[in-house]
Amino acid sequence: MIIDDRKRVAVMASGRGSNFEALCRGDTGTGKVVLLLSDRKDARVLERAAELGVGSAVIDPGSYRTRMGISEEERCARTLEEEGIDLVCLAGFMRMLKGPLLEAYDGRIMNIHPALLPAFPGLEAQRQAFEYGVKYSGCTVHYVDAGMDTGPIILQEVVEVLDEDTVSSLSARILEREHVIYPRAVNLHCAGRLRVDGRKVRLLPQGS
Ligand code: GAR
Repeated sequence: MIIDDRKRVAVMASGRGSNFEALCRGDTGTGKVVLLLSDRKDARVLERAAELGVGSAVIDPGSYRTRMGISEEERCARTLEEEGIDLVCLAGFMRMLKGPLLEAYDGRIMNIHPALLPAFPGLEAQRQAFEYGVKYSGCTVHYVDAGMDTGPIILQEVVEVLDEDTVSSLSARILEREHVIYPRAVNLHCAGRLRVDGRKVRLLPQGS
């Protein structure tokens, strides 16, 4: 009998799913993506899951537009626990979490954001940064708390804004870096190398 003792990772996504795919294909070390949950039944990410042979389900987000409902979050937490999920990765999941899921998976939910937090949280971060006129933007992987993109920062990568950039060219270069740092963050978490100390996430040496 082969025992797979890798950490079971679920991805929650609402749209295109390129980060989901990067997490499936990237080097996530002892973490393995085994489940995709989407709050939109027409999301492209569901097709990607089928193409990649990853089980998926559409979840009912409830009646709010920008967050999950409490009972829906509860149901979602139950599904994740029943599936034995160790880590939840939000990847273009366009709703905030406020209650039961945060409690059930405290310190075990990550998010990727296409800007250098704490600058430009929320929607259309690449456009916000571009229109503000910053010279450098980038992307951030952070643990999730009840705020809007406010949890402790795990990894960030800087992307230079070029004079000839448009929102879409800048977004594309940021996305390339997202696809690199998100698997890396999952790898570090699953290897037990991240220690949260207040707002700081410390990177522990290999083998510690
Ligand atoms: C990514 O750029 C991700 O950083 C962003 O949505 C995009 C999803 O793309 N997330 C947010 O803006 C969250 N505030 P994808 O579906 O191709 O991974």
